Amino acid sequence: MVDILLKKAGAKDWKEVEFFEKNAACKYYFPINWEDNIKEFLKHSYVYFIVFQEKTVGLISYKFEDDGFVYINGFNVLPEHRRKGIATETLKKIMWIFECQKKFRMVVHPDNKPVIILYMKQNFVIKWWKNNYFGDWQPRLLIETVDNPL
Ligand SMILES: CC(C)(COP(=O)(O)OP(=O)(O)OC[C@H]1O[C@@H](n2cnc3c(N)ncnc32)[C@H](O)[C@@H]1OP(=O)(O)O)[C@@H](O)C(=O)NCCC(=O)NCCS
Repeated sequence: MVDILLKKAGAKDWKEVEFFEKNAACKYYFPINWEDNIKEFLKHSYVYFIVFQEKTVGLISYKFEDDGFVYINGFNVLPEHRRKGIATETLKKIMWIFECQKKFRMVVHPDNKPVIILYMKQNFVIKWWKNNYFGDWQPRLLIETVDNPL
């Protein structure tokens, strides 16, 4: 088991959030940028830095939706710390915090193999596919936890 800590981020941490978002930017991950947008994001979402071996190596964020779901709206790990089980452990921790009372969802690019495999391993299923979901002409999948995946 990988030992990680979650450290709550606040408005004063916007630069650090920007750093992690920029590092994760790719065709599949559209980062949150600009001071105002990041501060707005920090106001409306719960954002946590992921600490591994005393270094901050990524972040995870979520917000609550009206239908009782926890929507994970940001998740990244620095490239040099990937494939160590850090994201898996982070996701498990967040799911454990809500003691399985909550359901989780996330929107992902259908070609984002790492994150799709990661979520499938935690019993998420694909609910739908939408073209141009964020207005970037790229499709997205909505994936959610289910009580009984079989
Ligand atoms: C997605 C992401 C957070 C995964 O972080 P991670 O710490 O490397 O994930 P883990 O080490 O916990 O991987 C768990 C499992 O997912 C799968 N996986 C992860 N990365 C993979 C890759 N590049 N290729 C194939 N499978 C992968 C594997 O099954 C892996 O288990 P294994 O290493 O025992 O085979 C990371 O790749 C990332 O930051 N990507 C860029 C940002 C992003 O796309 N975020 C998703 C938001 S929609």
